[in-house]
Amino acid sequence: MEFIEAGPAGALRLAPSILAADFGSLASAVEGVDEETDWLHVDVMDGHFVPNISIGPPVVASLRPYSRRFFDCHLMISEPARYLGAFKKAGADSCTVHVEVGDTAATLAEARAQGLRVGLAANPDTPFEAVAPFLGEIDLLLLMTVFPGFGGQSFMAEVMDKVVAARREIDAAGLAVDLEVDGGIDRVTAPVAARAGANVLVAGSAIFNQPAPLEAARAIRDAARAGRS
Ligand code: DX5
Ligand code: ZN
Repeated sequence: MEFIEAGPAGALRLAPSILAADFGSLASAVEGVDEETDWLHVDVMDGHFVPNISIGPPVVASLRPYSRRFFDCHLMISEPARYLGAFKKAGADSCTVHVEVGDTAATLAEARAQGLRVGLAANPDTPFEAVAPFLGEIDLLLLMTVFPGFGGQSFMAEVMDKVVAARREIDAAGLAVDLEVDGGIDRVTAPVAARAGANVLVAGSAIFNQPAPLEAARAIRDAARAGRS
């Protein structure tokens, strides 16, 4: 199978979050939205960094044969450096670690050494200044628009000031860094985030908890495109 690459930094992309899919039929859920999907967002939770437990490398490996998409793994875990090799081996394309975990420079270097694309995430109440020093070391900056741990929460519009600041900095420095938002993204909030400067939009409930996930994904993509123009 020929895998689809990440694509150019800054291009608009929709990344369905499988957290909202039926874990009993993940493969068909993923195949069902393939046509309107750019990346696939995989939420990994350890019950320690966040108060919820989801999936890990075995599920990434099981899902890999069913999708050619770029696997964007969001590690909401306390010791990401220990598991980066396992995610790479399972078929992850990118791993994003949280800045709140600490030991950031070493963890990013380990992700790079594993041959992964490298992402850094910040919670809604973490200031841009906490991630700014690492912009030169990463491929992706994820600014959470909810507190991580659960799907189905409401979009925090107050994070948009941080998105605007990040977009300004990325463009001013000419960096090939994607700017992702995650949490409460739907057809109403997607254009708001896109207008603020986000180019990768993660959406879980607004896709998989809908009667027609493929059409829901298409509607979010169309709304986001309209928000950029
Ligand atoms: C939250 C996860 C998100 C979540 C988004 O901890 O990181 O990716 O699945 O879900 P929705 O789109 O339902 O807010
Ligand atoms: Zn996520």
